[in-house]
Amino acid sequence: MGIRTRFMIIMGILSLLILVALGWASYEFSRRAALKEAASKGEIILNYLQAQRQFFRKNQTPLISELIEKDRFYPNLMSGFAASTTTFEYFHQRMPGFMIKYAASNPLKENNRADAFETKILNQFKADPDRKEVSGTIAKNGINFFYQAVPLKVDNQNCLECHSDPAIAPKDQVAIYGSESGYNWQMDEIVANLMVYIPISEAIAQAKQTALKLLGIGAGCLLFTLFVISLFLERGVVQPLIRLNNRTEEISLGKGLDQPVVINSNDEIGSLSRAIDRLRISVARMLTRR
Ligand code: HEC
Repeated sequence: MGIRTRFMIIMGILSLLILVALGWASYEFSRRAALKEAASKGEIILNYLQAQRQFFRKNQTPLISELIEKDRFYPNLMSGFAASTTTFEYFHQRMPGFMIKYAASNPLKENNRADAFETKILNQFKADPDRKEVSGTIAKNGINFFYQAVPLKVDNQNCLECHSDPAIAPKDQVAIYGSESGYNWQMDEIVANLMVYIPISEAIAQAKQTALKLLGIGAGCLLFTLFVISLFLERGVVQPLIRLNNRTEEISLGKGLDQPVVINSNDEIGSLSRAIDRLRISVARMLTRR
């Protein structure tokens, strides 16, 4: 195998490795940036929802309970959870893909029942009550989401007016939601997660595309560089070596001893050509001496 072929194979393999590493790094950086951005969006949504519920609890509920009879119950007026879920449905219409859920293992509203994945997170919070948040990624129906979950605790005796015994809950509430599920909650029990799902499929696809573009541009640049190096090797190394090789063979056979071997360059090849030329002169002298 010639010098040039060997050199080009090594360069080709090295370039390929560098390209793959660059592509992977680009994908990984973009993916991490996408997750970080999703996390900050999730943080905003979570805090906004918590603030909205706080408003309900502190500012709205006391006024409404003065205005409405004890057994009357209008979910969107009187439950911060209902109001927040309904508000988010409108949000979802404007920004499809984003989802929230008050996922409970024993919910009043059936839509809020935790699925297997949400139950696992709920159990994590129950096992470690100091834990404030769980986050990660999950695929739901083929779409990738970044999720953030915070635990919801029965932190007030008021909660038990509606969530303990159906007999003491507002009659309207029992009429709307039934008396089967959503009751017998205990004080300080972690009963639900607030789950926020941020879509990331698009950002991940974008990360892949950026990595592929970088790979394409990198491959183009490397191919061009390899081509230029190959040309240089052909002209600057391989061809002169072949010439020197042919001349040396001629000299060894006593031919062409009157033609100088000169390659005008200041590198190793020039120096080799001068050495061969001195050899030519010596051989010529030895032959004339005989
Ligand atoms: C006036 C009655 C009432 C009070 C007081 C009340 N809730 Fe609820 N809660 C409801 C109703 C009704 C729903 C269902 C809302 C809906 O339709 O989305 C609900 C829903 C929830 C949910 C979502 C899961 C589910 O069961 O559907 C959680 C979690 C929750 N409540 C926790 C609490 C906590 C914690 C408190 C106390 C801080 C509290 N609730 C106080 C009536 C009440």
